Amino acid sequence: VKPWPGLIETYRPYLPVTESTPVVTLLEGNTPLIPAPYISQQVGKGVKVFVKYDGLNPTGSFKDRGMTMAISKAKEDGAKAVICASTGNTSAAAAAYARRAGMRAFVIIPDGYVALGKLAQALLYGAEVIAIDGNFDDALTVVKQMAENYPVTLVNSVNPYRLEGQKTAAFEVVDVLGNAPDWLCIPVGNAGNISAYWMGFCQYHSLGKTSKLPKMMGFQAAGAAPFIGGQPVAKPETLATAIRIGNPANWDKAWGAKDASQGEFNAVTDEEILEAYRILAAHEGVFCEPASAASVAGLLKVKDQVPAESTIVCVLTGNGLKDPDCAIKHSDNQVKSGIKPELSQVAKVMGF
Ligand code: F0G
Repeated sequence: VKPWPGLIETYRPYLPVTESTPVVTLLEGNTPLIPAPYISQQVGKGVKVFVKYDGLNPTGSFKDRGMTMAISKAKEDGAKAVICASTGNTSAAAAAYARRAGMRAFVIIPDGYVALGKLAQALLYGAEVIAIDGNFDDALTVVKQMAENYPVTLVNSVNPYRLEGQKTAAFEVVDVLGNAPDWLCIPVGNAGNISAYWMGFCQYHSLGKTSKLPKMMGFQAAGAAPFIGGQPVAKPETLATAIRIGNPANWDKAWGAKDASQGEFNAVTDEEILEAYRILAAHEGVFCEPASAASVAGLLKVKDQVPAESTIVCVLTGNGLKDPDCAIKHSDNQVKSGIKPELSQVAKVMGF
């Protein structure tokens, strides 16, 4: 067995890197495509559902795929500092890779709307964390201006290298299934990841590595669903803070992917997200963060449209440990506490 060398080495011929690109890697990628038998059964019709568990990347989200590329290219260009706006995961990934490359990492976050695990990561990795009185969209506007006026490289998904790295998730899906799935269900926030997956599938298709292309099914939180209304949302709200975004930067690319694939955008409520989040954990044994569960919530919402016998991949973008507060608050399950350390007491509370 050859050890996994990280996604840049694995997919080097398909990425814009050269011999002189200093590869900054934490051996990201190669995340499991896990069969989801319970969800498959819920959909019925002989459909096979898999989850692409990208929460198993080194910093716990798919952002590592984009960041290994963005930081390697920034280092190649001689950058000393990077900056990003973030709902949390981008900041954790930017911080880890930038610090590993010896750069400063500035992250601008919406004050009070970043999950605890993500904030903890950014701080300990050594990022310089700035919380603004505004939302992600406001933060993105500021960091774009910063990158235009000061010597800091922008590593949000408007940086083209981010999408180049993220497209490798589509390669991995095809490499495992032997073909593209019929549907790819994915949460949509700033709309970089759906665009990146589509790039990856199209590239593999043109190389003859897949004979088909999936329908791209993008799901937004109902309170932050600009693609459903067809216009930016001024005050996005959802408990899935990772996708609490009202004005996606990759608007045109994502619409292009949806249209070219004959896919669809849809919205899922916070309740539907939480239900999928609980199902994933309690029936499949997969703990993702709330925003990630939007892909499964969306699939369950539109399951009547699913073609019989089809293969579906739901992308789980982030690890459940990112947002422990949400898990504790929204689990139906509770700790049975105050029990004496005695056999009879423990047996009784266990129902024996
Ligand atoms: N899922 C998770 C867990 C995310 O963190 C994000 C985006 C998305 C889905 C949506 O992906 O933006 O490419 O459409 N998080 C960004 C961040 C905004 O700052 O971490 P997208």
